[in-house]
Amino acid sequence: MTETVLLVGGGGREHAIARAVDDADDAELYACASNRNPGIDALAAGYETVEETDADAVVDYAESVGATLSVIGPEAALAAGVADALDDAGVYAFGPHAEEARIETDKAFQREFMEDNDVPGCPAYETFDDPEAAADHLRDADEDLAIKPRGLTGGKGVRVVGDQVTKAEGVDYILESDYEEFVLEERLVGEEFTIQAFVADGSYRVSPAVQDHKRAYEGDEGPNTGGMGSYSDATFELPFMTEADYTEAVEILDAVVEALPGYKGVLYGQFMLTAEGPKIVEFNARFGDPEAMNTLPVLETEFLDLLVAARDGDDLPELEFADRATVCKYAVPDGYPTDPTAGARVGVDPESAGEALLFYASVESREDGVFTTTSRSFAVVGRGETIADAEAVAEEALARAGEEGLRVRHDIGTAELLQQRIDHMNELRGD
Ligand code: AMP
Ligand code: GLY
Repeated sequence: MTETVLLVGGGGREHAIARAVDDADDAELYACASNRNPGIDALAAGYETVEETDADAVVDYAESVGATLSVIGPEAALAAGVADALDDAGVYAFGPHAEEARIETDKAFQREFMEDNDVPGCPAYETFDDPEAAADHLRDADEDLAIKPRGLTGGKGVRVVGDQVTKAEGVDYILESDYEEFVLEERLVGEEFTIQAFVADGSYRVSPAVQDHKRAYEGDEGPNTGGMGSYSDATFELPFMTEADYTEAVEILDAVVEALPGYKGVLYGQFMLTAEGPKIVEFNARFGDPEAMNTLPVLETEFLDLLVAARDGDDLPELEFADRATVCKYAVPDGYPTDPTAGARVGVDPESAGEALLFYASVESREDGVFTTTSRSFAVVGRGETIADAEAVAEEALARAGEEGLRVRHDIGTAELLQQRIDHMNELRGD
């Protein structure tokens, strides 16, 4: 039977999801998003421009195309109850209901949930419902703390004292920002990595670890972004971690799935590998962007089969991943994220990207070409036997894009940066 799959969202992550769905012979893809992603447009049988948080509009479109399944990309849609609405309309949503998505969308809930359910890896934390109390707590703290607004901030709301800001700057940030409620927590020190698990009916399947690069500039300098690029290895671990670290991280995800039996969709663990093992920086209730672009291109099991099994309540298939490393690099407009300049021509497309995959994000497709807007523009993904091979493939595609008006973190996936990560972990572990 042909499945009619509605994809919600129009970024690089969703282009990767679209490609994975479209890979199946018996899938017909439709998409809806607030922007028009030319990569998704080229794959989809239909594409409607709607606000991703407008649950009624998404359901109307799902019904009009006869969707039998849906996949939700962005967290804002989950927070707005789009998965609830699609399920209510009889269109299975691979994405959690708003209540369960609170594991991402409400950072106070996230920590309290961990504590209440004995989920390991929770840093010490306190929650505050007014800025004055949060600021007082920070002023009095002896240790460095991470400052987190309670709700969604597009990955840009966190400030870490001792890393991005001083304590005084942190206090000012709390008092001067528009946020009201905060979580202040122990600053975790180590190397970050992501594991995405596919979850349905109380069971789950894991995928290889990925490391994202949040900082805007090379050498991990500058403001936090949505993520500038990421890599994964040909194994499930990353070069700075052991198999035991990976297993320990999965045990944390396991505890979450056990405590949330109704959860479905992707459960994304953002871990800090500390000297004491993996701790949770945060959970997300969806694929990572960019991490989806590392994971889905090496998934050899048909993604549609996983979605159908999840919907039908069948055992999830065992997932096969190619033994390939991946390197993903985003091209972003000059000045991103603080002062982006739009309107640069994108000089590479999926056909001219050579061996690399090209995923569009926030771009505008006009008659005379594809142009940048003010958010991340497009990503290239190289695959190879080693991270170095994959990095070279990604760079080849970028060389074709030209650099006019664009910025890329060329250091992502390089031997030098990898060695720094390994040295950092060795130093923390006292090896
Ligand atoms: P989030 O928006 O929760 O993903 O946080 C953004 C970034 O802030 C993370 O990727 C980490 O680099 C950093 N961060 C968040 N919480 C902590 C913490 N407790 N300790 C150290 N860094 C953190
Ligand atoms: N890569 C970080 C995120 O998707 O939130």
